[in-house]
Amino acid sequence: MTQTAPILVTGASSGIGNHLVRYLSERGHTVFATARQESHLQALGQIERVIPLRMDVCDPQQVQAACQQVVESGLGLYGLVNNAGIGELGMFSTWTDEDILHIFDVNVFGPHRVTNAFLRLLVEAQGRIVNIGSQGGTISSKYYGPYTMTKHALEAYTVSLNDELHPYGVWVSIVQPGGIISDIGRNSMPATFSRFERAQPPFQEEAQQVLAAFTQPPQERSPDEPESAANRKPSSPEIVSVAVYDALFSAQPKLRYLVGTRWEGDRVLNALVEKLLDENDNPQHNYSRQELIALLDRHLAQRSGGETG
Ligand SMILES: NC(=O)c1ccc[n+]([C@@H]2O[C@H](COP(=O)([O-])OP(=O)(O)OC[C@H]3O[C@@H](n4cnc5c(N)ncnc54)[C@H](OP(=O)(O)O)[C@@H]3O)[C@@H](O)[C@H]2O)c1
Repeated sequence: MTQTAPILVTGASSGIGNHLVRYLSERGHTVFATARQESHLQALGQIERVIPLRMDVCDPQQVQAACQQVVESGLGLYGLVNNAGIGELGMFSTWTDEDILHIFDVNVFGPHRVTNAFLRLLVEAQGRIVNIGSQGGTISSKYYGPYTMTKHALEAYTVSLNDELHPYGVWVSIVQPGGIISDIGRNSMPATFSRFERAQPPFQEEAQQVLAAFTQPPQERSPDEPESAANRKPSSPEIVSVAVYDALFSAQPKLRYLVGTRWEGDRVLNALVEKLLDENDNPQHNYSRQELIALLDRHLAQRSGGETG
């Protein structure tokens, strides 16, 4: 593998995917950048070393056609970044079966479909697959249900796929961003709004309050005010590109890359500790505090290559 190895990035028209395409191109890589709209394909084609490809990840024919174009380029494919995704929100009662299938089609079945199409090339190159998950793959909260379900599914997909492909020389990682500056809010707003608007009793009043909150101007805050649930501080997409680059090119890529602010990271770790304590609370385990600490020490020692305690 050379450092200029070709990489394919899905969902490259905006946000994280668009930043990543530029980041890879600046470092000398050929980038197959996928988008759905003609204007986006043309804009991507203006970037040095970028080969735009039309691809809706929900359309198997477009996925196969894009794969054929990569094969015909003769460049091979070292890396695949499954980035395309949608982030619609809403109360469960307002999601139709069709809506749920659609968000899974883009966020979960899409990566599966695209990965399978390019798998032969990736194995040939002894390459890498990087899935863009989310901190919502670990935590969940109200209104985020279907989105976080898809990102939880992508976690399981990543772990299983990595187990399967590792013997064939392909590593699979998942990058789990917190809030990142991108177009995801704007792109998902129409569907999110219409869901809250169609809420039925007894959820209607709550939905109206959410809609009112969406349309209120943001409260003026000092930049020094610490981050909180009411004062989120989204990060630059640069931190995602840096993590993806490590997953693509480091000699020992990590399985998971958590990226975001300190406040967001604390939120994830707290949720994981709560989950550990929930799982421990059963007749078979119920480890004491000392046993839990010993368990943690053993795993830390294994990671650092030291003796187990
Ligand atoms: N921004 C965040 O705070 C954040 C946090 C955690 C995880 N993420 C994840 O990061 C990834 C990128 O999101 P983003 O924040 O950069 O949002 P974004 O700016 O809305 O970009 C999403 C990209 O996905 C593409 N896309 C949507 N549906 C598609 C489909 N059916 N087929 C192919 N492409 C499709 C969009 O293309 P079109 O222009 O054609 O719609 C766009 O290029 C997503 O997987 C998202 O879940 C984002």
